[in-house]
Amino acid sequence: MSDSTRTFKGKAPKLGLHTYIDTSAVMIGEITLGNESSIWPLVAARGDVNHIVIGDRSNIQDGSVLHVSRATDDNPKGHPLIIGNDVTVGHKAMLHGCHIGNRVLVGMGAIILDGAIIHDDIIIGAGSLVPPSKVLESGYLYIGSPIKKARSLTEKERTFLKVSADNYVRLKDEYLREASQ
Ligand SMILES: CC(C)(COP(=O)(O)OP(=O)(O)OC[C@H]1O[C@@H](n2cnc3c(N)ncnc32)[C@H](O)[C@@H]1OP(=O)(O)O)[C@@H](O)C(=O)NCCC(=O)NCCS
Repeated sequence: MSDSTRTFKGKAPKLGLHTYIDTSAVMIGEITLGNESSIWPLVAARGDVNHIVIGDRSNIQDGSVLHVSRATDDNPKGHPLIIGNDVTVGHKAMLHGCHIGNRVLVGMGAIILDGAIIHDDIIIGAGSLVPPSKVLESGYLYIGSPIKKARSLTEKERTFLKVSADNYVRLKDEYLREASQ
């Protein structure tokens, strides 16, 4: 376990292979981080009243906050936070109890609330607000507060979703090398 990860109620973050967690980030409790994923400075991720899963090759950029909602009588599973593979989460995003698919770009400062479902291959514009339980359809750009479907993604943008994730895999490898020197 690194200095950035803490156990809560006996549950410690589980880290995949070749992950990078900045020393100023904090990851607490029931969190699974997939292979090749990265957590950048000042990220706060709290898997305390429910769990967090982050897939492979995803990056959570600086200052983002990741949290979950507890189970209630009305909602016995509560709201875990699930993030898929090859996801880019821009600086200072707030992800709360939502489900994000694969190859999604969450713009800087976006807020995604409990129960929202973001399907695969989507761009969420910077500063957008995704209301509770809102479902975003695959293949579109969404922007605004509250968020609205803006247009279909171009082929270039679809390609960029994976390129963005790959860029961050390479960048975290550089940081890992730097830290090992
Ligand atoms: C939405 C985005 C993808 C641009 O899409 P686009 O189709 O090229 O948009 P344009 O720049 O042509 O702007 C089109 C309109 O949307 C508006 N707009 C652009 N980005 C917006 C946003 N995030 N929220 C609300 N409106 C936005 C523009 O002001 C413009 O409005 P107008 O037609 O009234 O003048 C981009 O602005 C964005 O938010 N990217 C996210 C980047 C990011 O956070 N990356 C994180 C990793 S570092």
